Amino acid sequence: MENKLKLIVTEREIREAVAKVASAIQRDFKGKTPVLIGVLKGSFVFMADLARALDMPLEVDFIRVSSYGMNDSPYEDARITKDIEIDIKGRHVLVVEDISDRGITVEKVLDHLNGKNPATLKLCALLMRDGCEAASKVDYFGKTIGKGFVVGYGLDYKERFRNFPAIYVMEETE
Ligand code: IMP
Ligand code: MG
Repeated sequence: MENKLKLIVTEREIREAVAKVASAIQRDFKGKTPVLIGVLKGSFVFMADLARALDMPLEVDFIRVSSYGMNDSPYEDARITKDIEIDIKGRHVLVVEDISDRGITVEKVLDHLNGKNPATLKLCALLMRDGCEAASKVDYFGKTIGKGFVVGYGLDYKERFRNFPAIYVMEETE
């Protein structure tokens, strides 16, 4: 069995999605110095573009959550394998995710970070899966996508394809 990649979000569409999210964040966090917390590893490319699209003072940190192992079958629960290092007590925090799929990662991260008493805690995701159960918890998102496993722009399949500049859906071919 082979996997074929089909382009579903072009570089231009990604740029537009990042700009849309950035302008909403810039408006909502005006006058504040937010802490952007990227969920590793998938968010690293989005984080780099989003942080540079924001014309405001901000800080960056990362948290690592593994929800998928080396195979692509989801664990029932997400585990935090690396915590943040900035003290977010009383800070305005924005979690940066690559894709909100079943919402398990989001729940886990928001719960964990809430325990550190930030002043506000918001979430942005570049992609949101149609029908995502945690959709109400996603404050900003770039694009919604349908079924199908996607790779590129930070998203991987077995650690590959993170470096692709656009987003592709994997199609199984016999
Ligand atoms: P959730 O916990 O189901 O919302 O899954 C979120 C995490 O699973 C994301 O942060 C991704 O790392 C990973 N994920 C979900 N769907 C995909 C996909 O289509 N391609 C690559 N990674 C995915
Ligand atoms: Mg992943």
